[in-house]
Amino acid sequence: MHNPDPSKIFAVGLGFMGSKVLLSAIELELFTVLGGGARTALQLGERLSLHPRSIADFLDVLVSQGFLSREGDGATALYANSADADLFLDKNKPSYIGGIFEMANHRLYGFWGELTEGLKTGRPQNEIQTGGDLFAELYADENRLEEFLHAMAGAQMGNFIAFAEKFDFGRYNTFCDIGGAGGALAVQVALRNPHLRCETFDLPAVKPLAERFVGAMGVSDRVDVTAGDFFEGPLPSADVVTMGNVLHDWDESQKQTLISKAYDAVRPGGAFVAIEMVIDDERRTNTMGMLMSLNMLIETEGGFDYTGAQFDTWARAAGFSRTEIVPLTGPTSAAIAYKD
Ligand SMILES: C[S@@+](CC[C@H](N)C(=O)[O-])C[C@H]1O[C@@H](n2cnc3c(N)ncnc32)[C@H](O)[C@@H]1O
Repeated sequence: MHNPDPSKIFAVGLGFMGSKVLLSAIELELFTVLGGGARTALQLGERLSLHPRSIADFLDVLVSQGFLSREGDGATALYANSADADLFLDKNKPSYIGGIFEMANHRLYGFWGELTEGLKTGRPQNEIQTGGDLFAELYADENRLEEFLHAMAGAQMGNFIAFAEKFDFGRYNTFCDIGGAGGALAVQVALRNPHLRCETFDLPAVKPLAERFVGAMGVSDRVDVTAGDFFEGPLPSADVVTMGNVLHDWDESQKQTLISKAYDAVRPGGAFVAIEMVIDDERRTNTMGMLMSLNMLIETEGGFDYTGAQFDTWARAAGFSRTEIVPLTGPTSAAIAYKD
């Protein structure tokens, strides 16, 4: 029997409220402040310049969401980070993934306000609403370039570590990540596979930042940072060629072009791997993957996320002999295409 209950409608319909509290907490660096130890409500109010009217509600929402703990009540209530908030949202820790949420707060939150317009027009609702190239636009400004690269690294770090640990690199000698942004994937693969020669390839504007990161991680001797345009000329060749969140930026014919170029770049017996929120073939369960596809509507001219079955069709058309989907973390998988 159907028991009428609107709670799910409320949870989803007003979900933006809870989302914005977390995004503002990250913007205000609340979890970074608490990374230095527990603080009272009074201390946090002063440190974050909060109006007295907002302090208890703001902090206690975060307690109820599981991101903070609280002992006591009122102005002397003592707040601390939860274990996950402390690990992932304290800027002073190398495990910080807040970059993606800083960008979500600063760019996507506003752009998603225009979703209905995007649904009706099929047009992006961001900086390239009236035309232009997304990456040229993002990279024209040094701060935006850095924010974007931190966002990418934060979004994919768990997947990159899972992939570097799960994928058997034992029989391969060379690895190249195409559209590798700051070099996060090549670094994780290099750290776990000392025998591999690695490369991270992206647009020229990204190169200095990637070189700095690869150097800071102590793997410059095994990770080459190279620059170019993946639509111009052949891709660097390697036994294993990856693209993380690259295919979803582009329309179907551009996806096919990139997969065909990857086929040419992969050495015989090697593999091409796309690391993305691969949607379930039935398109019923991977909500985040389908939301990410709508995010590509907001952000790009023709991009969309895709199912494993679509990846298989494109990969076989490019010449790969078989594919498999290996789940990584949350909604993200490695879509692997093997070359005979
Ligand atoms: C959505 S980001 C993904 C970054 C990273 N691979 C990840 O998984 O987080 C797409 C990347 O493709 C790069 N890119 C875009 N157009 C490119 C082009 N024409 N040639 C080379 N790289 C390009 C961007 O600079 C950016 O780093």
